[in-house]
Amino acid sequence: MCGIFGYVGNRQATPLLMEGLRRLEYRGYDSSGVAVINGQIEVAKKIGKVSELASMIPTGIEGNIGISHTRWATHGGVTDENAHPHISNQSNVAIVHNGIIENARQLRPRLEKQGVKFLSETDSEVLVHLIAHYLDLGSTPLSSVRRALHRVRGTWGLCVVFEGEDIIICARNGSPLVIGIGEGESFIASDQHALTQYTDRAIFLEDGEIAVVSAGKVQMHLLSGGRAAQNITTLEEDWGEADLGEFPHFMLKEIHEQPEALRQCISGRTLSSEGNCKLGGLELSSKELQKIPHVRLLGCGTSLHACQVGRLAIEKLARVPASAHVASEFRHNDPIIDPKALFLAVSQSGETADTLSAVKEIQLKGGKVRGVVNVVGSTIARQCGRGVYIHSGPEQAVASTKAFTNMTAALVMFSIQIGRARSLTRNRGRDLVKNLNAIPDQLEAYLANPGPIMEAVKAVKEAKMVLFLGRGVSAPVAREGALKLMEVAYIPCLAYPAAEMKHGPIALLEPGSPVVVIAPNDELKEKTRSNIQECRARGAKIILIHEEGDDIAEEADISISVPITTPLLSPLLTVVPLQLLAYNTALELDCDVDRPRNLAKSVTVE
Ligand code: AGP
Repeated sequence: MCGIFGYVGNRQATPLLMEGLRRLEYRGYDSSGVAVINGQIEVAKKIGKVSELASMIPTGIEGNIGISHTRWATHGGVTDENAHPHISNQSNVAIVHNGIIENARQLRPRLEKQGVKFLSETDSEVLVHLIAHYLDLGSTPLSSVRRALHRVRGTWGLCVVFEGEDIIICARNGSPLVIGIGEGESFIASDQHALTQYTDRAIFLEDGEIAVVSAGKVQMHLLSGGRAAQNITTLEEDWGEADLGEFPHFMLKEIHEQPEALRQCISGRTLSSEGNCKLGGLELSSKELQKIPHVRLLGCGTSLHACQVGRLAIEKLARVPASAHVASEFRHNDPIIDPKALFLAVSQSGETADTLSAVKEIQLKGGKVRGVVNVVGSTIARQCGRGVYIHSGPEQAVASTKAFTNMTAALVMFSIQIGRARSLTRNRGRDLVKNLNAIPDQLEAYLANPGPIMEAVKAVKEAKMVLFLGRGVSAPVAREGALKLMEVAYIPCLAYPAAEMKHGPIALLEPGSPVVVIAPNDELKEKTRSNIQECRARGAKIILIHEEGDDIAEEADISISVPITTPLLSPLLTVVPLQLLAYNTALELDCDVDRPRNLAKSVTVE
């Protein structure tokens, strides 16, 4: 997703802008650009990697005020002209923008009638010409931005620079922006991750706010007029720039970080002797947990899959109705919000627009929503106000791996906590907590000896389609495995609850079709065994993820075993072979495993 970085201070802006863009690269993009004020405004922008932009301006652009952008195309193709920054026809205003201007199509012809010459196909360019228009009419920079924003509908996180002015004006409506305040210098970024190396003092812009940023100073205003409060917070978790270390890719690094990430997530949150868990950030007493009529979880992509495991765990352990919802659908289905119910918004980045919109809809109707989030201080975390941080550390690869296991673990811990406030026995709780605490070491053991992954890669890498099957808690794992293989290796995949395969997808099977089956040693295993045999009867090639020593391995062409654990926790282990399968298949197919085509790390547009 698009990234923004701005600087105003006493240092040369270009090197800082390029470093900022480099730290935002992991979000996914297809072009980048910078605008620096050197008396006049100078712009350099192009499609491709940030490194190609850097080679366009080998000595940088002179000047200590600048803005920069990485673009993930929404409106308009991937071209140099459509890259940001966009500049006014008189070259006196330049802008970078994250979000979507929904009425750009109506405004464009009106501006063209006034003589404006558009240089791109983007919706964002409308903004720079509107601001320049009001500037020409004699408005101040702040008033020009305010008047322009009153003309548009949509979402924005934007930075504007003006010829002859030593300020950057920023505004936010739905797309995150954070201002870092240093000594005699200020930084602006769409993601706090790009700021933490310079300062820990930050102002998170809220929707409807406009900031006038100068060197080390910030003035806060409201779009609706008047001043806004200046809330300076301390950026807590400085993850630093996660580097690759000895790994060839972030995805592999993060797969191998799962044992330690899981320890960080679990640490201090399990009460072994009481057979309970304590997620203090939820701020929910046992009494409140007893009264919750039902729990609704929402997320997108991998986070949705974690929600689907979580809802099963909550129903099984707490006997409370629970449901998992596609966040992008939730708000548009006119949901019935019971103020007594508990909603959990699950998101690694904490910036996913679909999930954020669902959170706001729930709050609008009086619902109680808590975040289950990785990035500290992210928009969803702040919007919810209370919740659980999953402490995965920075997840840079677009394909989510360690966040899935940590989100799932957090939701399982919640299900134990709400279960123990109700009918879950102490012994059952102790058994679950003991098994949960054993998972990180088990993960380490598996990663040290992952089994015939490369055989499985050979079986899928040329497939027209791969079918993933699982039952119960393994059904969301099947969906997660399918998503991984699609995301990084671009292979069409289908994921189905195993029994459902007979109601249609089995028609897809031909001799040699690869079918990946997840079958831990739970009460559904024998049923899954029958589904495997139904697939084999059609000549399918079975790749089976099962528990060590289980005789179901005989049913497979390629069997990959994971350590034994209690069935409810099995997703924390069975997902890892699927992550490795996706990673290694992507490498075999020469795909860009950390930056898969068309994808962004955090989807901040709906
Ligand atoms: C997962 O590998 C994908 N990158 C994507 O589905 C992701 O899980 C989804 O966009 C949700 O992101 P979030 O967890 O940051 O909200």
